[in-house]
Amino acid sequence: MERKNILLIGFMGTGKSTVSARLKKELDMKEVDTDMLIEKRQGMTISDIFAQKGEEAFRNMETELLKELKSERNLIISCGGGMALRDENAAVMKEAGTVVWLTAEPETILERVKHDDSRPLLRGNKNVEFIGNLLEQRYSKYKAAADVAVATDCRTVKDICGEIIRKVCEK
Ligand code: S3P
Repeated sequence: MERKNILLIGFMGTGKSTVSARLKKELDMKEVDTDMLIEKRQGMTISDIFAQKGEEAFRNMETELLKELKSERNLIISCGGGMALRDENAAVMKEAGTVVWLTAEPETILERVKHDDSRPLLRGNKNVEFIGNLLEQRYSKYKAAADVAVATDCRTVKDICGEIIRKVCEK
């Protein structure tokens, strides 16, 4: 069956990639990770894109990619954590499919990202205060972009996916 796309949004470390991998199998859909696709096309890591081309250039790449994916079907689109920040992107997302916002507390996020150095925005900033502040700044953007929200703290990926599938079907 050809399904409407599911877009996963949320802060870094809210489990988008893990959830995407399981949803893909459970729903027999294809998976696109926007960070991975941008890295592949640019032949550079996200950190190098930020360092050499700047964050604005990366954000433009995200917007372009989202517009490209909008007309596809049957995709789980795992979006980079900043994708929902541009109002323009949020509008394209709503047209592209059902937008699922994964949430987590700053303490949970820190636990999940603390051994990973691939995220330029968290370099030297891996503490609950920084994460909490950035999360607060972004909160209203994620909320506005989302069709449904699913909390991920202290839950198994199976449980989280079960809730997503229920909520997406209800939409
Ligand atoms: C970013 C999140 C990252 C990546 C980039 C910027 C952000 O994606 O796109 O480092 O601004 O929140 P993940 O959420 O997959 O870590």
